[in-house]
Parts: sequence; structure tokens; C-alpha cells
Amino acid sequence: MATLQMLTTPSLFYVFVAFLYTIVVVSGQFTRFSKLELPPGVIGPESAAFRGLILSEGPFTTVDDGRILKWQGPTVGFVDFAYTSPARTKQFCDGTTDPNKGPICGRPLALTFQPTTGILYIVDAFLGLLAVGPNGGLATQLAGGFKFLNGVDVDLLTGNVYFSDVSLTYDIRNTTQPGFKPDSTGRFLRYNTLTRQVSVLLTGLSGGGGPAVSYDGTFVLVPELGGNRISKYWLLGPKANTVEPFVGNVGNPNKIKRAARNGEFWVAVSNGLVPPAPLITPQGVRFNSNGVVLQTVSFATQFFNKTISLVQEQNGNLYVGSRFTNFIGVYSN
Ligand SMILES: *[C@@H]1O[C@H](CO)[C@@H](O)[C@H](O)[C@H]1NC(C)=O
Ligand SMILES: *[C@@H]1O[C@H](CO)[C@@H](O)[C@H](O)[C@H]1NC(C)=O
Repeated sequence: MATLQMLTTPSLFYVFVAFLYTIVVVSGQFTRFSKLELPPGVIGPESAAFRGLILSEGPFTTVDDGRILKWQGPTVGFVDFAYTSPARTKQFCDGTTDPNKGPICGRPLALTFQPTTGILYIVDAFLGLLAVGPNGGLATQLAGGFKFLNGVDVDLLTGNVYFSDVSLTYDIRNTTQPGFKPDSTGRFLRYNTLTRQVSVLLTGLSGGGGPAVSYDGTFVLVPELGGNRISKYWLLGPKANTVEPFVGNVGNPNKIKRAARNGEFWVAVSNGLVPPAPLITPQGVRFNSNGVVLQTVSFATQFFNKTISLVQEQNGNLYVGSRFTNFIGVYSN
């Protein structure tokens, strides 16, 4: 009763409204959930990207059967946009979940648009680093000979492409085989779009994840899925070309994406993946450029006991990707 009476006095009422506004609108708790369903039989929307800054298109997503699909709205759903393997046929590959078809069908795991040119950069677990133009279709390989690429981002200032290689010894198929043990042979690499050369920037990483370049191009964040940490690799300034610890104790960070607010990031975390725990708790964690955690959002209800690979903020929503679902989760306020 006391509380209600207090709320009926105008000043406290406005304080209360302002308080609610802060929680719901400014911080955003992302409590509403909906799904963008993949076509029947298709699974594994590991990543997502949007094209265009104001009237954005998408999400575009990479799926298990080797395609890159584009969301065309609720009445049409997802349609074909691009693919990575020249050997891929729709008849043999569409809808497949057979990992052994990966080398033929392709298995794209991450994608990012270069906003000024509309070029889509893709890493594929079997086919390396690729790019495709604004109309999609068969992507062109830029660099090959890798065992297991899984993250990519483009530096908005220089156009350089940063990507990660999970391992020198095992590929994506091995990760689900009995007795599989991850190692620490992961690498962080750069593709220079002018010279078309690949440079190895870091070696000895414990599993890959998706790197993210800061919006001002001063650094790139490099996650280690099995190492439970994120490092900061400086690109500009006095510490350029050196690496330092950024955040430790992150439970299995996979892809990192720039958040809507400049200088902030979202990382997809799957606590309990490595070493394996009885229950995986998937979360989105938002942090600033100094590694201070600003927010944690749990996805455990809709992604119960599942690993997630991506949290992408777009127009105030969080798009959540997983290798094990037939939908992209959309969390909104
Ligand atoms: C990984 O899996 C492939 C395909 O099943 C197999 O040929 C290869 O020997 C495995 N490699 C390791 C390191 O387990
Ligand atoms: C979570 O998934 C793992 C692996 O599939 C399984 O062994 C475990 O029992 C699951 N945990 C719960 C609480 O369902």
C-alpha cells in the first residue's frame, strides 16, 4: 500500500518512469524473443551480417549446407545469396547436415561486409578466405590452404581483412568426433587487400573465434574459444603490432562484433564448452574498449544447453547465431 501511495505522488511517479525508461530503453534487457526460421531441413546459422547503414538488408547468414542465405522478410523468409565451393550443386548439398560433404558443399562460418564497396568477405572451414560482390553467387577464393578458418572482420579504414584459423592439426569435422581434444595451434592473420598477401600476426592460440576491428581502426580484439580470454592486438599508435591481454575469464568466447555504440562490443559466450561441462550456458556479453563488462544477457531459455557463436546488434535487437539451431534468435526490448 505504501508503495502504491508513493507512486501516486507525481514527482516519485516520474522518478519511477525515468527508472523504468533507463532499464528498458537505455540499457535494454532484450526480454522479447522471436525466430527467423531457416528453410526446412537447414541448420547452423553460425554467423550473421547486415548490409547498408541506414536501410539495412539482412541478416545474411552462413549455414551448415554451405550456403549464404539472405533474410527477405517474414513472408519470403531466407533465400539463396552466395556459396563458396565451385563443386557445390544444390541437388547434392541443399539441406545436408553431413559434415563429410563439407569439402564439396563448403561450410562458411563467418562473414562481414566492406560497407563502402558492398563486398562480402567470407571464411569457410574448408575453402579459406573468399569474397563475393554485391549480387552474390559463387565467391572467389582470396587465400587457401587452411585447415579451419572461422572468424573474419574488415578494417573500415584500411580495407585490410583480419581472420582466424582454429588449428593447424584438426578441421571442423574432428570437433564432433569421439575423443576429440582441442590444441593450441590457432592463428590470427591479416589479408592485405592491396598486396593480396597473408601475414601471420599471432600463433599458438587456443582455438579460434571471430576477431573484431575497433570502429576507429586502432586495434582488433582476438578471442580464444578454448583459452577463455580475449587479447587486444594494436594496429595503430605507439603499441602498433603488439598484443596485450584484454579480458580474461570469459567462458569460451566465440565471435566478437562491434556493438551499436562506438567503442563497444558484443561477444558470444558458451560457458561450459571447453573443458566440457554437463550444461552449457549461452550468453551475450557487452564490454567497452577497456575490457569493462557492461552487460550480460542470458540466452539459456531459447538456446538451452547449446553453444552459440554470434551476437550481432542491429537496430536495437540482438541476433543470435548457433551451429545447432534451425533459426536465428532475435532478442528485442
Ligand atoms: C579429422 O577428420 C577427418 C575426416 O573424418 C579424418 O580424415 C582425420 O584423420 C581427422 N583428423 C584428426 C586429427 O583427428
Ligand atoms: C547438455 O548437453 C550435453 C551434451 O549433449 C549432455 O551430455 C547433457 O546431459 C545436457 N545437459 C542437460 C542438463 O540437458
